[in-house]
Amino acid sequence: MKRILSGMRPTGRLHLGHLVGALDNWIKLQDEYECFFMVADWHALMSEYEDAHSIPEFVIDNVIDWLSVGIDPDKSTLFIQSQVPQHLELHMVFSCFTPLGWLQRCPTYKEQMREIKTRNLSTYGFLGYPVLQAADILLYKADKVPVGEDQLPHLELTREISRRFNSLYKRKIFSSPEAILTESPRLLGLDGRKMSKSYGNTINLCDSEDLIKKNIQNMFTDPQRIKLTDKGHPDICNVFSYYSLFIPKMKGQVYDWCTKASLGCTDCKKRLSFFIIDRLKPFHKRRQELIKDKPKIIKILEKGRQKATLIAAKTLKEAREAMGI
Ligand code: TRP
Ligand code: SF4
Repeated sequence: MKRILSGMRPTGRLHLGHLVGALDNWIKLQDEYECFFMVADWHALMSEYEDAHSIPEFVIDNVIDWLSVGIDPDKSTLFIQSQVPQHLELHMVFSCFTPLGWLQRCPTYKEQMREIKTRNLSTYGFLGYPVLQAADILLYKADKVPVGEDQLPHLELTREISRRFNSLYKRKIFSSPEAILTESPRLLGLDGRKMSKSYGNTINLCDSEDLIKKNIQNMFTDPQRIKLTDKGHPDICNVFSYYSLFIPKMKGQVYDWCTKASLGCTDCKKRLSFFIIDRLKPFHKRRQELIKDKPKIIKILEKGRQKATLIAAKTLKEAREAMGI
């Protein structure tokens, strides 16, 4: 079986964007690949270092969400990055020969430096973010890395770092991993901007039914539709895009109703919340059970740590031998 590694940063609660943008995909991949799913807590620290104490809480919370939606610890290996020290060791090795220019040119770096104003990210560590990510991936000699489009530059860098190591030390230790692009279109937040914790426009996987109803009821719709008798334009309505993504079988019907003005927006949104709540219900149920069973979570993560460490230690040994250190 080919191997997969992917990760998420524990910087907040998981939301519908994580579900359609990553988790749905991870769940499917579990049957075809040997999967390693990692909580990237060191990567979280790189941007949240001022608020480090919140990270461990989100680590467990995110793992509970993973398990609730169907990541299966009998099929996949779940582990916490900081519990496998080899990630930092290989990160350091890679950082010795990764040219600054590669990192300074990285589009994700430039974008975040431009956009994130609430934290000071002009740090040595943050510039090296993709170097740590390369270590994550290459330690396991992953064949494929399921990621969103925004992560492609990091994968390109990972391949360059891999090539550079192999050529410097004249041994083909590291792989040349490829992306598995998540197909689903990007889900917009409640306010029509990108769904993100920092905009406060998310529907979290663990949100209560009442909160989901309230938040969906407040969503913007087609601004030209003022009266019930006005015909709507579903193509520019964010509510409609949720239908397309979550309830495709209702898409045609809602389109018809909306463009013929036979369904009001309030009603349309009520129906949408009903479906979303229904979709999340089984997750909530499993979540409730898991929250009561912390020892089970700890056990899963310990098993993951052991399995990950075995592979990571072997790769690091090979790398050290190649360098003669
Ligand atoms: N940078 C990734 C993100 O923000 C998270 C991540 C860390 C990751 N290490 C990884 C993803 C290794 C894939 C493989 O989404
Ligand atoms: Fe949007 Fe539904 Fe209103 Fe049409 S009826 S504008 S799809 S909320």
